[in-house]
Amino acid sequence: MFAVQYDRFGGPEVLHLGTAEAPRPGAGQLRVRVRAAGISPVDVALRSGRTPMGARLPLPHIPGVDVAGVVDEIGDGVDGVAVGDHVFGVLDVAKLGGGSAQFAVLPLWAHKPATMSWAQAGAAGSSVETATRALDLLGLQPGMTLLVDGAAGGVGSVAVQLAAARGIQVVGTARVDNHDFLRRLGATPVTYGPGLAERVDAAGTARVDRALDVAGAGSLPELLQLTGDPAAVVSLADFTAAAHGVRLSMGRLAGEPDGRHGLRAAAELSTEGRFTVPIEAAFPIREATDAHAAVERGSRRGKIVMIVDDAPGT
Ligand SMILES: NC(=O)c1ccc[n+]([C@@H]2O[C@H](COP(=O)([O-])OP(=O)(O)OC[C@H]3O[C@@H](n4cnc5c(N)ncnc54)[C@H](OP(=O)(O)O)[C@@H]3O)[C@@H](O)[C@H]2O)c1
Repeated sequence: MFAVQYDRFGGPEVLHLGTAEAPRPGAGQLRVRVRAAGISPVDVALRSGRTPMGARLPLPHIPGVDVAGVVDEIGDGVDGVAVGDHVFGVLDVAKLGGGSAQFAVLPLWAHKPATMSWAQAGAAGSSVETATRALDLLGLQPGMTLLVDGAAGGVGSVAVQLAAARGIQVVGTARVDNHDFLRRLGATPVTYGPGLAERVDAAGTARVDRALDVAGAGSLPELLQLTGDPAAVVSLADFTAAAHGVRLSMGRLAGEPDGRHGLRAAAELSTEGRFTVPIEAAFPIREATDAHAAVERGSRRGKIVMIVDDAPGT
């Protein structure tokens, strides 16, 4: 099969389109012919070799934790899906390889609703799984107020919508350019950075019941000031969280409970017109280097995704 891959760690320039052996699905897994593959900060971190897990990846490696595609092979013990179905989900890149390829094997998936484009579905998996896991951990109840720090990015933009759909009042941080974007997603926008508590107050928020740190930008002391309780805060990206008494939630594939319910719930909300996956930019797979560079630039509205239609052999 064709695949974007790298055989040494480094910047986006280490990526190249080549060939690789097509993966086969094991028990509980599906293989898809890939239509779209999202790119996330974790893909960039793994490619750079900066992370302990990245440095252990066998090379060459096919990056990409998110994918959507057409089912073409079904592993043992998988029910409720047929060859030809459209699905999206999350990959276990360390064990099964990533989604920047002609075929990919999914351990965690849900049916793609017709209301999600291929680009949206291809970018959805890990953001939906992560946001759902974090909202579940926070024990949110309808009527509570949640502050999302880093609300305009891939995970934040999804977390805002999923929380709003649960009847939560959401305050989201973003740079000023993204405030209208956050309003459209259903959040009251405030600017991130020092002085957050005062700006949240000035925005008319009476109290903050829970806080989700998506950005990992050092805001935990202010999130504790706002909520008054370490148990009311979850971080997805701040490795100093434990020193503040705050939970750091890592990926389902790193050992947390089944995340499939989140994918199904997001699909259902999409069919009801209450959820979308904001796409900042879509690149053809042969422009993988540009797509990874776009993720590295940081500030954005939603996700970066690669479309696999025009690769060689399609
Ligand atoms: N633990 C897990 O399971 C898990 C899973 C997925 C991702 N993550 C991590 O979560 C983080 C975010 O992922 P993502 O995909 O959402 O990234 P992303 O799409 O790059 O979005 C990051 C957002 O952070 C905002 N930001 C930048 N500087 C900030 C600051 N000083 N304070 C607050 N927000 C700031 C940006 O907002 P503006 O655009 O408005 O500037 C940007 O939209 C990454 O570190 C990623 O590795 C963890």
